[in-house]
Amino acid sequence: MADKVRIAIIGAGLVSDFHHVPGINIDPRAELVAVCDPNEALLEQRKREWGPVKYTTSYEEIAADQNVDAVIIATPNFTHKPITLACVNGGKHVMAEKPLGLNFVEAKEMFHAARDKGVRHMTAFTYRFAPSMIYLRHLLKTGALGTPRHFRSQRFLDLPETSWGWRQYQHLAGAGDLYDMTIHRIDFAHDLLGPIQSVCGAVATFAPRTTTADGKTCDPSNVDDWSALIGRFECGAVGVWEGSTLMKGHHNNGVGFEWAEINGSEGSAVYQLVDPNHILIGKHGGSMEKVAVPEEFLKPKESPRNPADGKPSTVFRYDLVWEFVSSIVEGRDAVPGFDDGASAQAVADAVLQSSAEGKWVDVEYVL
Ligand SMILES: NC(=O)c1ccc[n+]([C@@H]2O[C@H](COP(=O)([O-])OP(=O)(O)OC[C@H]3O[C@@H](n4cnc5c(N)ncnc54)[C@H](O)[C@@H]3O)[C@@H](O)[C@H]2O)c1
Repeated sequence: MADKVRIAIIGAGLVSDFHHVPGINIDPRAELVAVCDPNEALLEQRKREWGPVKYTTSYEEIAADQNVDAVIIATPNFTHKPITLACVNGGKHVMAEKPLGLNFVEAKEMFHAARDKGVRHMTAFTYRFAPSMIYLRHLLKTGALGTPRHFRSQRFLDLPETSWGWRQYQHLAGAGDLYDMTIHRIDFAHDLLGPIQSVCGAVATFAPRTTTADGKTCDPSNVDDWSALIGRFECGAVGVWEGSTLMKGHHNNGVGFEWAEINGSEGSAVYQLVDPNHILIGKHGGSMEKVAVPEEFLKPKESPRNPADGKPSTVFRYDLVWEFVSSIVEGRDAVPGFDDGASAQAVADAVLQSSAEGKWVDVEYVL
């Protein structure tokens, strides 16, 4: 490996521009060396925005490139598996976007491939990196909340009801809101409380999405735009999740509404995406109070990122790249790995099964 971890971005769309490329740019141990996307007009635009690195329309070329150590795959969901397998085969460390695959079986195959090849693998579960989420985890693990009893997650966005592009078709996305948003909340629930034993899930579709944003007609959506579940954790706690992009009045300049709460035998604590540098904490007999997240939880210890710079609900996302590069430099597993991506997908698939069959479903975690 060269002095720096040489990273290629595969998929030069929204999320790469929002936080993967900025994350690489602030990490002195990493450098962006290549960008891949089949959209040539977008490549031209990224050349101007991201600078003079290698640009290509072929991910196979990246997978075979000896000047690339690691890749970040931020493409439509149906391409995650083939691109990951090609890059793993080429010996690249891989961070792949969520959902890892089109279903649990694909995600498991991706985990096995990376593990067996001995490369670092990471699933881009962004919200694990929010300061108040990290602090909430600390409060829980140190017993400050007592025995955890209840988990609660709400993620509401107010987005247009026009076409979602590839996101609105089952064969390209796997599922709708469930795989797009709720899967993050299943993941951080895993991180906080451990495995979910069984779920009772429901999904629904309200918006037909037969018109694109520029007024063209398209096939109707066949995925959910609302997803919900109740679940039982192996630790004995219970959880309730709900997510949708159809929540009118929750636009909030694009940040929407997010609330995740743990109620333990001694106290409660709340993470909110809109204000991730603060947490709400309540003790028995008292009221919920807003407390600043202590400095040690605002960013990874060695990271040069200044937590006071930028919009708080955006900048913690840069820490995903920090974790990915740290795992490569330190020769250790990245967290969350592909195993975490597959585990979250096992729960999400149990939600789809539960919704279809109208009954509780045990989660099959076998990796
Ligand atoms: N972790 C998060 O918080 C987060 C946020 C947004 C999106 N995502 C995930 O990131 C992925 C991309 O989402 P997005 O919003 O950036 O989508 P997008 O549609 O804006 O971008 C995807 C890009 O991938 C490109 N692409 C398609 N096929 C390709 C291929 N074979 N090789 C290389 N590039 C290819 C497209 O041309 C497009 O530019 C999705 O899996 C999504 O679920 C994660």
